[in-house]
Amino acid sequence: MRIVQDRVTLRQVLGSAAPGLVPTMGALHGGHLALIRRSATENDRTVVSVFVNPTQFDDPADLARYPRDPSRDVALAAEAGADIVFAPLPAEIYPPGFATTVKVGGPSTRWEGAARPGHFQGVATVVTILLNLVRPARSYFGEKDFQQLQVVRRLHADLALPGEIAGCETVRDPDGLAMSSRNARFSPGERRQALVVPRALRRMVDLAAAGEPGAARLIAAGQAELAAEPAVAVEYLAVVDPTTLEPLTAIARGARVIVAVHLGGVRLIDNVALLPGE
Ligand code: PAJ
Repeated sequence: MRIVQDRVTLRQVLGSAAPGLVPTMGALHGGHLALIRRSATENDRTVVSVFVNPTQFDDPADLARYPRDPSRDVALAAEAGADIVFAPLPAEIYPPGFATTVKVGGPSTRWEGAARPGHFQGVATVVTILLNLVRPARSYFGEKDFQQLQVVRRLHADLALPGEIAGCETVRDPDGLAMSSRNARFSPGERRQALVVPRALRRMVDLAAAGEPGAARLIAAGQAELAAEPAVAVEYLAVVDPTTLEPLTAIARGARVIVAVHLGGVRLIDNVALLPGE
């Protein structure tokens, strides 16, 4: 396992090889490790990038308290099968005079895009740079950030970026909560309250499977479940087309329910596929 911090060395180490790439912001957990393991099985070499990308944080306080533990990240990435950890300093990604921003329209407009101004521009810009630096055969992204995955797919197709984009299922803790670096900020009590989110999604999945196609009724059922935890403030709960992220009035195959809530100063997002009943 090699740690690389600059782009020149990265190109030298990679040569003509097209590896698997797993872009991360570090604070690695089981969700990241699943992506790394999958890349290691599908590619000769796997690059894990660890870069807390300042341009995608709309809230400076969120950036300041973002968890950082580089030596733990390197150990976990190596154990999961990474060959190279690319851990650049901000000036390596954004050199002096940097003046370009990638802005994706379409799927980035609503939800996270509306709630976090500039967020997806930061993501799209850094993902473009990383894919151009690494030139991967495959890049791995989690469904945990479902809208981000669709924005990356759009960006990748529109700008003819290298390789393929692979979407990976959300990894959850045994209690159902989707793994996230920000979960570490919950007190034990808040963590119990947060479980209302996967419970609400599960209720909507079950209702859809039982034959309810109406988005409004599905959302009402999810909202009712979420209301059981007054500490949980819902930012949005929506049933959307899985590619465009536009709201649906009735579910079709592949429809997605997406949710964002606030709890104890933490913003939590989750999503799940809705399968229509027979
Ligand atoms: P980060 O939040 O570190 O996530 C890195 C990758 O891990 C993303 O593709 C994310 O969707 C995936 N991931 C996170 N939690 C997961 C879980 N519980 N199950 C499955 N996959 C999970 O997302 C980012 O970083 C950044 O925006 C990045 C793409 C690196 C650009 O800076």
